[in-house]
Amino acid sequence: MTEPAHLAAVRVSYDTVAADYLRLVVPPEGMDPVSRAMIAAFAELVRESGGGEVADLGCGPGRITAYLHNLGLSAFGVDVSGEMIALARRAYPELRFTVGSMGALEVADGSLGGILAWYSVHHTPADQLPALFGEFARVLAPGGHLLLGGHVGEGERRPTAAYGHPVSYTSYLVPVGRLVELLEQAGFTVTTTLEQPIAQRDDRSHACLLARRS
Ligand SMILES: C[S@@+](CC[C@H](N)C(=O)[O-])C[C@H]1O[C@@H](n2cnc3c(N)ncnc32)[C@H](O)[C@@H]1O
Repeated sequence: MTEPAHLAAVRVSYDTVAADYLRLVVPPEGMDPVSRAMIAAFAELVRESGGGEVADLGCGPGRITAYLHNLGLSAFGVDVSGEMIALARRAYPELRFTVGSMGALEVADGSLGGILAWYSVHHTPADQLPALFGEFARVLAPGGHLLLGGHVGEGERRPTAAYGHPVSYTSYLVPVGRLVELLEQAGFTVTTTLEQPIAQRDDRSHACLLARRS
């Protein structure tokens, strides 16, 4: 199947920035306490529901996959960027990392206990989110948990550079309320939404949504 243009741009861009992304972006241990608390809550919910495999979708260099592993989850990572996956495999050889698209997972129906997508869903065009969340619903077991974290807002951003390199991806921003609607339409019950302003002159927010496969 031909790779969609938006995904090719994500792949090429993150292949280019991978090493500097790892150098410049704070690891999970250094994240703000609220984000860490949301990830810890997600891990506890998955464990309480009987565990099961957890996919870290758009896992980048795998640090959050390893963080989930250290929280007692059976976590694996998927990313479209081969360079990101190479870094993840090098750092965490005991964990499983796969190159692939989160919109077409090589995962059996209803087989996962949880999905984390941390700062990765915003590269999917808004009109393709119903199909993406449908794929998440397909692979999650009934009662399985989803944690989405990332920027929310309105419109599209096309940065020309990031992490010290040229990039060609787009960030498609969607308001939290619209994400809730789309998740509910895909078969999720959204249990928690959290929105934190980023900075005075930035009209984006950071948001976390916890949802359960109905
Ligand atoms: C900003 S990075 C976040 C990485 C990691 N989640 C973290 O927080 O450190 C976004 C990652 O999502 C990946 N990504 C974006 N869209 C994707 C898709 N449709 N399928 C697979 N990976 C995707 C990119 O390649 C990139 O590694």
